Amino acid sequence: MTGNQTPARYHRPVMLAECIEALNINTGGTYVDATFGGGGHSLKILENLREGRLIAFDQDEDAKKQADNIQSRSFTFCQANFKYMKQYLKLNGVTLVEGVLADLGISSHQIDSPERGFSTRFEGPLDMRMDRKSTLTAAKLLNEYPEEKLHKVLGMYGEVKNAKTLARAIAQQRSVKKFETSQELTVMLKPMAPRGKEFKYYAQVFQALRMEVNQELEALEEFLVQCRDVIAPGGRLVVMSYHSLEDRMVKNFINTGKVFGELEKDFYGNPVKPFQAVNRKPVEASEKEVKENNRARSAKLRIAERIDMSIKL
Ligand SMILES: C[S@@+](CC[C@H](N)C(=O)[O-])C[C@H]1O[C@@H](n2cnc3c(N)ncnc32)[C@H](O)[C@@H]1O
Repeated sequence: MTGNQTPARYHRPVMLAECIEALNINTGGTYVDATFGGGGHSLKILENLREGRLIAFDQDEDAKKQADNIQSRSFTFCQANFKYMKQYLKLNGVTLVEGVLADLGISSHQIDSPERGFSTRFEGPLDMRMDRKSTLTAAKLLNEYPEEKLHKVLGMYGEVKNAKTLARAIAQQRSVKKFETSQELTVMLKPMAPRGKEFKYYAQVFQALRMEVNQELEALEEFLVQCRDVIAPGGRLVVMSYHSLEDRMVKNFINTGKVFGELEKDFYGNPVKPFQAVNRKPVEASEKEVKENNRARSAKLRIAERIDMSIKL
């Protein structure tokens, strides 16, 4: 990659060294980067491979353009949602991999592109789709979702305290004029926000809309379940999340094999648990990294190893 298309400009990878160490790369192994973005993590994985292979995913066409700059024969890019990981691996002749990395959420490039509508700072269309072929935009959601559903989305994904009042205000506003731009939304939000905490409030609302537009938790659940099938015994699952709901899902999945629900036991009372956590607590970015890259402050990295179920007594 050259010029101003370097991954550092597109997105600065978070906890790069920690993620690579967590993958415990074997130079001949096959790995998945489920969230290519600007390719910061992918390039480091490739540096660590010799005869191995990396299959990367991203549903955003801008990420695909970044991936097109990688010339390595060990590299395959799939412009697809990672919820289809297993199918795409199969299409590429792969059934088992030695490690899967996922760095959830959106990239700095996506946030910093006004026309994508992810940012509270710029005027732009209320879009927020990572995959611009999908049909649900933030504007459509704001203009068409029933008030109760809006209430749920804002409360659950954004942890917005006055979600019910806000959902009502959105419904009133749209009956006068449909939402089109991010500026129209922030202007409407201003009087609803706690004084002095307006930007935090906007960020919570935007996050909730983004998560719903992209069905992020649903995709994460489908992806985690497939990790159980595609990661070889001894292989690593490495997931970095920036939202407490996502982190809880990853933690549950590692501890119980299920995103929601309890640990299953077999007939003999042995836990049916496909992964073993490598660290009890999530890894967090160093103070130095957080100082240099504010995005790293909320990152939680969870690492697990696939258990060989065939040797369970
Ligand atoms: C935080 S960025 C990853 C940054 C990357 N690790 C790097 O170093 O540049 C997350 C990326 O994952 C992509 N993404 C998020 N959810 C996805 C999903 N369900 N399927 C495919 N790509 C997804 C986004 O489009 C975004 O480009």
